[in-house]
Amino acid sequence: MKIPSSSGDTANLCVTWQCPSNIALVKYWGKKPGQLPASPSLSMTLNHAVTQTSVTVLDGSASQGLLSVNGDPGHPFLPKMQQLLLHMAEELPVLNRVSLAVTTENSFPHSTGIASSASGIGAFALCLLSIGRQLMQQEISSDELLHLASRAARMGSGSACRSLYGGYSAWGETAGLQRSSDEYAIPVSALVHPEMLKMRDAILVISSQPKSMPSTLGHKSMEGHPFYTGRIAQANQNMEEMLKSLAGNDFEKLCIIAEGEALTLHALMMSASPGIMLMLPSTVEVIHRVRYARKSGLPLCFTLDAGANVHVLYPDKSAGAVEAFISDALGPLCEGGRIIFDSCGGGPVRLTESAGHG
Ligand code: DP6
Repeated sequence: MKIPSSSGDTANLCVTWQCPSNIALVKYWGKKPGQLPASPSLSMTLNHAVTQTSVTVLDGSASQGLLSVNGDPGHPFLPKMQQLLLHMAEELPVLNRVSLAVTTENSFPHSTGIASSASGIGAFALCLLSIGRQLMQQEISSDELLHLASRAARMGSGSACRSLYGGYSAWGETAGLQRSSDEYAIPVSALVHPEMLKMRDAILVISSQPKSMPSTLGHKSMEGHPFYTGRIAQANQNMEEMLKSLAGNDFEKLCIIAEGEALTLHALMMSASPGIMLMLPSTVEVIHRVRYARKSGLPLCFTLDAGANVHVLYPDKSAGAVEAFISDALGPLCEGGRIIFDSCGGGPVRLTESAGHG
């Protein structure tokens, strides 16, 4: 992007984006310097679990950067957002010359413990890029905007870079996957069977408590981990196999890889030093019941993030039978019976853009 010499009058310019969350089927766990992933990952973008974020340029003359989120100077996302703003201002110095106000809201029900950093950071990166482009009075294509937002979002939170695309996206250099990169995610839906693009995801709220370990610390625990080398090889292998199962609509194979990835993630946490156990007894019980149901012929499998909650994946065409099972057999294991029924979704949406006054 070219940087203009003057930003013009832009006070009260406001941009709003909606960005979805994502669930990884092949997990990002471990980093290389520069906020680059130690191994490639692949995720499904969600439909209903979204964040809406608005960024307003307050006053072009007195630059104070970003002081609060939703008016709260202690908002948990503020440090990550400030970090992202600093990073983006290196390429878009025009962002250094303004004061910004941010409001952000999640669609996920309050106090469910569902992570919102991927959608929140994704939406914020899109807003900053749109604002930067507007300040520079420069058009960029939506493909270019998403690409740049993915690269930027990675600096705020690695998994966020995959939320910029609907369907499925991949992050990290992957053998045989053209244009794949450690620096940004790429959309892979064009390689995916149409049935897989209708995948359902029931999010089981086992605990609404905040995570006892931030993911950033978890990634650090991979440094010097005794299973590091094996994990990197496994993730690369699983990327190739997962892409094949998505292309061939091979749900059984997807189940085996996705469950293996989830259990590996937790095994790596448990065998780190110090080790950490994030699964709760109900998490383990859900896993057993899901596997038993699959053996009995129901098409479903589980995956986990770095927490106790469980995502149950199943094909759209079997939604009736699987959702009856989930509600009856798994609902009682959830905190307050809470289940969020979601599905594979279409990606970010720009909601509004209002021009500054002259
Ligand atoms: C377990 O993206 O939250 O969800 O880059 O430090 O912000 P940072 O980590 P983050 O890690 C997510 C890890 C995961 C797996 C995944 O989403 O791939």
